Amino acid sequence: MTKKVMRVAVTGGAGQIAYNLLFRIASGELFGPDQPVALHILEIPQVEHALVGVAMELWDCAFTTLVDIVHGADAKTVFKDVDLALLVGASPRSKGMQRNDLLAQNAKVFIEQGRALNEVGTKDTQVLVVGNPCNTNCWITMKCAPNLDPRNFHALTRLDQNRGAHQLAHKAGVSVDAIQRMLIWGNHSATQVPDFLNAQINKKPVKEVITDHHWLENEFFELLQQRGAAIIEARGRSSAASAANAILDAARSLKEATPTGEWYSDCVISDDNPYGIEKDLIFSFPCQSVGDGKWDFVHGLQMDAFLKEKLSITQQELIEEREYVKKLIKES
Ligand code: NAD
Ligand code: LMR
Repeated sequence: MTKKVMRVAVTGGAGQIAYNLLFRIASGELFGPDQPVALHILEIPQVEHALVGVAMELWDCAFTTLVDIVHGADAKTVFKDVDLALLVGASPRSKGMQRNDLLAQNAKVFIEQGRALNEVGTKDTQVLVVGNPCNTNCWITMKCAPNLDPRNFHALTRLDQNRGAHQLAHKAGVSVDAIQRMLIWGNHSATQVPDFLNAQINKKPVKEVITDHHWLENEFFELLQQRGAAIIEARGRSSAASAANAILDAARSLKEATPTGEWYSDCVISDDNPYGIEKDLIFSFPCQSVGDGKWDFVHGLQMDAFLKEKLSITQQELIEEREYVKKLIKES
């Protein structure tokens, strides 16, 4: 393999999402069989020893694409020279918590990691934040890394998009590949906005195929908004394999140009968005990738009164989270 090595950082390397993610990246599933990959794995000092075992298992898979593993507890050392940083490591919520209950607890993680990326990242380093509440943690990381392009920061609503595609397919009695243009707007939280106005089933508007509009506006909506909590309730732990799967989908979307007429959900900086959402939020929008980390907003989607009202609720939540963490950044 003569290609330049792709260096991918994964934080929270001893956690449950990382255990479902690292092996899939190392296997070549994300970048292809002829792309050498190096993993840069970060943990807190208390569990850093576990990374030795993770690294042993990674080598024991004998993946032909895995060429290097860097691991440790110092963000500046681990993030050095990375092309893609997957910021997973943070506390997950437990039963009964809302994601934004984690704000104060997890903010310091992203302040520190943003500052580290600012020192050792490059202008091309792409950053995908997964640790919750991921939109506002992503905003913190971006603010603490002013040397990086704000358009390189992303937070994960791809899991919600995938969940929505499955639910629509199930309700309509079709396979999941019949669902196109599934989209989540706003915050990865209980105010997220699954868009059934612009989504399609076999190229027809969802509302023409699923005529039970009461289900779309109520059960479907709440199901997605509460899916993370339902998994915690059922499993006793938050989603992990499906989260790892969505991280790979999101990273693939960034790398590869989006086919014409399609889009994906990605939480990105709201500056210059065509939907009137306030500036300086990390908000989930319909995006199209032109490849290699460059992306555009999709313009011209339909809006109705229902969608507008839901967008204003999720926007308000993100504004409040942002105002709260501004103080935390100043004090740190
Ligand atoms: P986990 O508790 O199994 O693992 C988290 C790991 O992160 C732990 O090993 C912990 O030691 C490590 N960690 C904590 N602080 C760190 C730091 N400063 N640097 C490096 N590592 C650190 O949790 P998990 O199930 O893997 O979930 C991780 C995060 O992802 C949680 O915040 C969870 O809520 C979030 N999550 C987000 C989505 C999404 O769609 N955005 C989906 C699922 C989970
Ligand atoms: C999820 O959506 O599964 C994650 O964000 C975990 C959570 O706390 O809901």
